[in-house]
Amino acid sequence: MCGITGYIGYRDAYPIVINGLKRLEYRGYDSAGIMMYDGENIHLSKTKGKVSDLEKITEQEELRKAGKIGIGHTRWATHGVPNDTNSHPHFSESGDLVIVHNGIIENYDTIKKELTSRGYTFKSDTDTEVLINLIEEVKKNEGCKLGKAVQLALNNVIGAYAIAVFDKTKPNELVVARLGSPIAIGVGKENKEFFVASDASPFIEFTKDAIYLEDGELAIIKRDKGIKVRKIETDKEVDADIQELQLNLEQIEKGGFDHFMIKEIHEQPKAILDTYRGRMLPNEGIIKMAGIDDNLPKFLNADRIIIVACGTSWHAGLVGEYLFEDMARIPVEVEYASEFRYRNPVITSKDVVIAISQSGETADTLAAIKLAKSKGAFVFGVCNVVGSSIARETHAGAYTHAGPEIGVASTKAFTTQITVLSLIALKLAQEKGTLSKTAVNNYLQTLQQIPNQIEKLLEIDPLVQHISEVYMHATNCLYLGRGFNFPVALEGALKLKEISYIHAEGYPAAEMKHGPIALIDENMPVFVIATNKGHYEKVVSNIQEIKSRSGKIIAIVTEGDVTVKEIADHVIEIPETEEAFTPLLTTIPLQLLSYHIAVMLGKNVDQPRNLAKSVTVE
Ligand code: F6R
Repeated sequence: MCGITGYIGYRDAYPIVINGLKRLEYRGYDSAGIMMYDGENIHLSKTKGKVSDLEKITEQEELRKAGKIGIGHTRWATHGVPNDTNSHPHFSESGDLVIVHNGIIENYDTIKKELTSRGYTFKSDTDTEVLINLIEEVKKNEGCKLGKAVQLALNNVIGAYAIAVFDKTKPNELVVARLGSPIAIGVGKENKEFFVASDASPFIEFTKDAIYLEDGELAIIKRDKGIKVRKIETDKEVDADIQELQLNLEQIEKGGFDHFMIKEIHEQPKAILDTYRGRMLPNEGIIKMAGIDDNLPKFLNADRIIIVACGTSWHAGLVGEYLFEDMARIPVEVEYASEFRYRNPVITSKDVVIAISQSGETADTLAAIKLAKSKGAFVFGVCNVVGSSIARETHAGAYTHAGPEIGVASTKAFTTQITVLSLIALKLAQEKGTLSKTAVNNYLQTLQQIPNQIEKLLEIDPLVQHISEVYMHATNCLYLGRGFNFPVALEGALKLKEISYIHAEGYPAAEMKHGPIALIDENMPVFVIATNKGHYEKVVSNIQEIKSRSGKIIAIVTEGDVTVKEIADHVIEIPETEEAFTPLLTTIPLQLLSYHIAVMLGKNVDQPRNLAKSVTVE
């Protein structure tokens, strides 16, 4: 949901800011803009469209040569349609102050009316322009410096923000602040240069030292001098904690692949291995997870586990429900975070809440966590992004270690989330004695084979490409699965929808006869997950029902399957594994299929329309 970036130091700011925007484009790509200060004048350029469009329009501009200080923005529109005027950065009325903003100012209308009555005029429809004028008004009235004005102004706004503000009258500083939206500050050597960004990726080649602002903090960054961090509410100075970044440049580049999505699909064997590495010793039957080990009584005495998440992470949560109930015999409820937070749910201190989020920044999931905490529940996070808001807000947690996921459509996040949930379920089963020692060891040994099995499974790519060619012009698709693979059907349908814009629905296979079967005719491709364990015979019956209504069947089966092969139009085989781990395999061909169909249709796979990677608005 919008990416912001900035630089203040001794290098040319333009390439740093523009490259930073490219790396943050996964956060939003409705419009892009940049401001540079050349020591005398502000140069500002912005446009509807992508960062590449911004680059084109700045080609001949002085702005490229201007200055050692700059800020930039890539937008996911909230207030105001995506057009040039609503693009960031925004000027204040006087033209002295400039802002970029990620988030939403909820009471902007009231503030706007008040400022209008005091003579302010507004060019855009954005809440951000209101905020920069509020800062200007406070600065004027209080006769204070920029940092103080930002702090006072922010105490009057309701909403979420990560902002970077520049003041032409004090050109050697940037003021940044956050509440609900992330900000990382890269600290260069000897305090000579600083980088600001929504995540650390824009400055990874310049410094490994980063400060992650906490919610409710503001930083005044002065060239050659350093950073002062203060609490927005109290103005109290706090110590800034400098962390060493684990990220490297290779992880955030495409590495020879055409798109991040396909790179990330191929990274799954390694990502899953990295996720369980050091956490299990299959032969000894040992599972070590600090976040669980340190809080075992909470889990073992829990009345139930409530899983909260959104989108793909919610689908992983559904797989988690099957895992926890089947292995550890703990009742589980899986909730959309966005519903849970507004539903006045019944939660007690005997509940354990597991929040799942790749980005660790999803606003609804964050709000659900806060609600659960306020009712006394113990909240455990399963996040990918280290140091993210959700990772910090939860009582304990386990990282997925998938590495940066940049393609907007989630792939390796899903399979690594399932890996973490599998380990937790097995650990709890072990502690509760709901699975025998042999069964746990067997599960762990089987899990250990998954990375190699995925590696081999990826070789089916040519077959999936062929199937993609056959069905790329479908306008509707059904995805069916049962048990552990019902969530995979949902996830398969979501992947297709979001990157190819083909309408697709996932259903529990047996639900089909209660309605969706009416849709089936010779034009309806139906993707059915029919692995050999679980409810195989039942799914075979469902396949027969589709076949007798002339539907096209693309089945995902276990190696060696005979029955489904005879009925289905196309068959994709996955290696043999425990039923509980089949989602880790069945999801792979569905990811590949969505990818190829989207590529064949000429869609922007990594940046599908209207979406953004990190959903920091509710
Ligand atoms: C789908 C997708 C989204 C996210 C959802 C939650 O491919 O990426 O549905 O899964 O926005 O995001 P996180 O996991 O970051 O909380």
